Amino acid sequence: MNRDAHREDWIASKRGALQGSLDVPGDKSVSHRAVMFAALADGTSHVDGFLEGEDTLATAAIFERLGVRIEAPEPRKRVVHGVGIDGLRPACGMLDCGNAGTGMRLLTGLLSGQTFDSVLTGDSSLSRRPMQRVIEPLLRMGASIDSKSGFPPLRIRGGQALQGIEYSSEIASAQVKSAVLLAGLMAQGQTIVHEPHPTRDYTERMLSAFGWPIHFAPGMARLEGGHRLRATDVSIPADFSSAAFFVVAACVVPGSQLVLRRVGMNPRRTGLLRVLRAMGADIDVRDAGEQGGEAVADLHVAHAPLRGIDVPLEDVPDMIDEFPALFVAAACARGTTTVRGASELRVKESDRIATMAAGLRALGVDVEETSDGAAIRGGPIRGGSVASQGDHRVAMAFAIAGQVADDEVRIGDIANVATSFPGFDTLAREAGFGLTAA
Ligand code: S3P
Repeated sequence: MNRDAHREDWIASKRGALQGSLDVPGDKSVSHRAVMFAALADGTSHVDGFLEGEDTLATAAIFERLGVRIEAPEPRKRVVHGVGIDGLRPACGMLDCGNAGTGMRLLTGLLSGQTFDSVLTGDSSLSRRPMQRVIEPLLRMGASIDSKSGFPPLRIRGGQALQGIEYSSEIASAQVKSAVLLAGLMAQGQTIVHEPHPTRDYTERMLSAFGWPIHFAPGMARLEGGHRLRATDVSIPADFSSAAFFVVAACVVPGSQLVLRRVGMNPRRTGLLRVLRAMGADIDVRDAGEQGGEAVADLHVAHAPLRGIDVPLEDVPDMIDEFPALFVAAACARGTTTVRGASELRVKESDRIATMAAGLRALGVDVEETSDGAAIRGGPIRGGSVASQGDHRVAMAFAIAGQVADDEVRIGDIANVATSFPGFDTLAREAGFGLTAA
């Protein structure tokens, strides 16, 4: 699972219009949480649409090591035999979250309230990601966590009596909110989280579906300790963030027409659609419905000329994972696209502002980097070599750039694409991408 050791590259090149109707894999955020809550529930839960990505496989493997039996009767299905809210058992050795910030931050909250000690580690990228944002509120709740100056590995001491808190987070982060709420399950009294801007609410929605009383509204959530979770079947929609690469590709490659089927449309995830439409994109949302309590729809996308815009500040948290793809859309647009208020991009799997700016510049695009965003001037994209810095979303974004570049684009270090989107290259080739391993 740890890909630090061997590196692989892609060559992305222009092949012409993209066509087809595509199913992208299950939602990563929902897959992590489905395994976590099913593991802590009383009874057996069936999970359908589980993402077979390295991030979510790492989370499932951790719960197996904590004493939860998880069967995989067929790909994308899991049968989770829950052990109850107080049923996890200590694992011997460290728990490896791989590349997954969501896995590590949510588990930190959850393991803080256990009776036993745990150590969470991750790969070289995760080891550089800030954990103080979850450590600080959890310490306030009475947790005992040692870190390497706020970075992994995290040593969590069990047997602490946690107290509920009212926490106003300075960062709009679903991972911070979720870590505090998960600790709140095991805490005395109420735990309340306020956010500076509403973020994805899967933890709240899924806790409620598993029968835990919780009150939530955009920007806040409140629960109390002392209840139990009931086994519940979960049907996971396709991941909007994975669909986003094909949405942008169809927008920018002349003549393209793609359909992305049954994509999760939680409004806290779909900011990219608003922004692309404001840029002139031709995206039709059809057959809206519901799957497992989440909104889903088919996205019909056709090529259309894009124009640069100032990305509205309020859309930033709702598209936080889509900026690598948006940067490529901006490079293909007429005029300048400006992104502000997105400093969180600097602490993702790579510093996505720096990584995208460096890669686009290597392809001849004019990018001005700022502390919390960038100004990208659209224009011709030439071939060249770009470094993904081991960041899955950066690698996939540059695969799109290769479809419009004058010459081949070589993308370095693509192995981590398997953390969120196993089979991206095969699906991309099916849609008409020029994309080969090198
Ligand atoms: C996630 C929250 C977001 C997002 C990440 C998944 C989640 O991170 O970028 O890919 O599942 O809660 P932040 O909470 O750091 O914004």
